[in-house]
Amino acid sequence: MHHFQQKNGELHAEDVPLSRIAAEVGTPTYVYSRATLVRHYRVMDQALAQAPHTICYAVKACSNLAVLQLLASLGSGFDIVSLGELRRALLAGADPQRIVFSGVGKRDDEIAEALQAGILCLNVESVGELARIERVAQALGVRAPISLRVNPEVDARTHKYIATGLRTSKFGVAMADALPLYRRAAVSEHLRVVGIDSHIGSQILEVAPLIEAVEKVVQLVDQLKAEGISLAHLDVGGGLGIAYRDEEPAPPAELGAAMTALANSRGLHLLVEPGRVIAGNAGLLLTRVLGKKSNHDKHFVIVDAAMNDNIRPALYGAWHGVVPVVEHEERPRLPVDIVGPVCESGDFLAQDRELGALEPGELLAVLGSGAYGFSMASNYNSRQRPAEVLVHGASFTVVRAREPLEDLWRGEQLLDAATLDVSELPCPGQETAQELG
Ligand code: LLP
Repeated sequence: MHHFQQKNGELHAEDVPLSRIAAEVGTPTYVYSRATLVRHYRVMDQALAQAPHTICYAVKACSNLAVLQLLASLGSGFDIVSLGELRRALLAGADPQRIVFSGVGKRDDEIAEALQAGILCLNVESVGELARIERVAQALGVRAPISLRVNPEVDARTHKYIATGLRTSKFGVAMADALPLYRRAAVSEHLRVVGIDSHIGSQILEVAPLIEAVEKVVQLVDQLKAEGISLAHLDVGGGLGIAYRDEEPAPPAELGAAMTALANSRGLHLLVEPGRVIAGNAGLLLTRVLGKKSNHDKHFVIVDAAMNDNIRPALYGAWHGVVPVVEHEERPRLPVDIVGPVCESGDFLAQDRELGALEPGELLAVLGSGAYGFSMASNYNSRQRPAEVLVHGASFTVVRAREPLEDLWRGEQLLDAATLDVSELPCPGQETAQELG
């Protein structure tokens, strides 16, 4: 996180004091560092230097157009999972030939637009989807480039909501089913077999499960080759974890060495789909203290960011560092929960932190929020989602203005008088609880 540092007693993003952003843009606001994004992309790129490769950044991690544009300008490709992400990537200047389309459920219109855009590959997750893609391609008179996402049944040893390589998960095609599916795809006039992929989960800290998974995948590559079905690329998915607290994730170089060796051993172009490792520690959520309260001996600091702005603590029990933007050494310490204004007990950003006497008006930074922060934000409680800012050196750009309140009810429709007239509906007598509803 060395582009977010204390200087002159105040936390900065690169050379911009966070108080300046709060004053000009308000809070809550996501703050990204251009230098960190670029560094993370380059570290990954260098880790893969031993093999011909393409980084397909997982758009879902942080899908702001400016972030995608910056990565595209560095040569990044993209891993998309929806039409919305396809449009974003194209708007940001992505090369369609570096886009792969993942996801367990793709609609016909999404497939059609991806094919028309000329993307590199659709990552197929089931026999039904293969047939659907074939049908859409036939209707368009094109050949759809496909890869099968196989499920290597390897435990990524991560949170159960983000483990995807288990036998019981909805993702991918069982190894045993992959061979017949490839055979079928190989003889289709409307499909072109270009690759194979797997993705076993997210926030994976060790390389071993990833190696185990990809070793299984390349065995399948060998079987396919023996049958005369040869592939162009090996897509090893994303998933490399980051340090939120005291985790010690494997360095990208270790992952890179293993994956490039596996790809080279079969003469395949290597694709990776990193999201979190690029964006996670390149962003923080800037929030302001609204007030504090104590119930008995439990102390709460209420801030203006909430679970709708960063749902990770509520959804995964995720731990994010929370630091005051201006640190006072003499501050008395006591354990506090940092909570938002949303009407849920699960609405916390942090629990039991020795942060102590934070005062209303103070700014806090929720660290490691660049990935799956804004992209998972919602309008729950009719709250506007945060603004997003990209810092570059001593300047910053508001890359997403805070949404106007009116946008929250855009598309909603008030009823006309006739529909509001409910006189024809019977008045209930005494109803039992069972009759309600
Ligand atoms: N490729 C595929 C097919 C994926 O499903 C994902 C993430 C990635 C790549 C990128 O994975 P990464 O490198 O970021 O680990 N919302 C959760 C994480 C969900 C990950 C979903 N898939 C969180 O906040 O922890």
